[in-house]
Amino acid sequence: MATAINERGQFTIALSGGSTPKPLYEAIASQKLPWDKIHVFWGDERYVPPDHPDSNELMTRRAWLDKVPIPAANIHAVPTLAANPAVDAAQHEKHLQEFFHVTPGQFPSLDVVLLGMGDDAHTASLFPHTAALKVCDRLITVGNKDNSQRITFTYPLINAARSVIFLVAGANKRPALAQVFAPVADDFTYPSRLIRPQGELFWLLDAAAGLELKP
Ligand code: 6PG
Repeated sequence: MATAINERGQFTIALSGGSTPKPLYEAIASQKLPWDKIHVFWGDERYVPPDHPDSNELMTRRAWLDKVPIPAANIHAVPTLAANPAVDAAQHEKHLQEFFHVTPGQFPSLDVVLLGMGDDAHTASLFPHTAALKVCDRLITVGNKDNSQRITFTYPLINAARSVIFLVAGANKRPALAQVFAPVADDFTYPSRLIRPQGELFWLLDAAAGLELKP
C-alpha cells in the first residue's frame, strides 16, 4: 500500500463478496490507514439494490467502510439500479475507464484484487461454463449464477492486477482447490484456473481448505 501511494498517489483494491472476507473487513476497520488515498471497488456484485441483504456493498459497508473516514468518492459502488444489468455493467466499465484513464481494449492494473472461491471453483461472478468466461475484451460483464444475475470483473481485468489474493476457507472448497491446482483440468469447468495475473498471486487458505501439498 505504501509503495502504491508513494508511486501513484493512491491505492486501489477490488473486494470480494460472500462470507469469508467479512472478518478480514472487520479487522481492517480497526486500522489507522490513509483512507483518503484508498479507493475501493468490488470484483463483483449481486444484481440487487445496495440495501438488499445479498448486496456485497452492504456487507462491506457494515463490516468496514461505515466505520472508517474513507471519502464517499473513494467507494466505487457497482450501479445496480437500471432495469438491465448490461446497462449498469457498461456504465461501471465507463467509470473504471475514466478513473484509470484507459481506453477500450486497455486493462488497468489495480493494486490488489481480493477474490473468494466457491465450491464449484467460481471466483468473482465467473461461474463454470457461462458466457462471462469468454469475455476477454471488456473490463466488466454480466455473470449468471443459476437464475441470479451479477456484475463482475472479467478475468482479463483481474489478471491485469499487480497482486491477486485468494482468500478461501472451509473443507467444502478442497475438491475445487484440488482441481484448480491440478496440472491439467478444464478452465471453463474450474474458472479460478483462469486467474493467472501478470503480477503476484497469493492463496490464503484456512486449515480446512488447505491442500496437502505433496513434497
Ligand atoms: C460473491 C463473491 C463470490 C464469493 C464466493 C465464495 O459475490 O459471492 O464474490 O465469488 O467470493 O462465492 O463465497 P463464500 O466466501 O461465502 O464461501
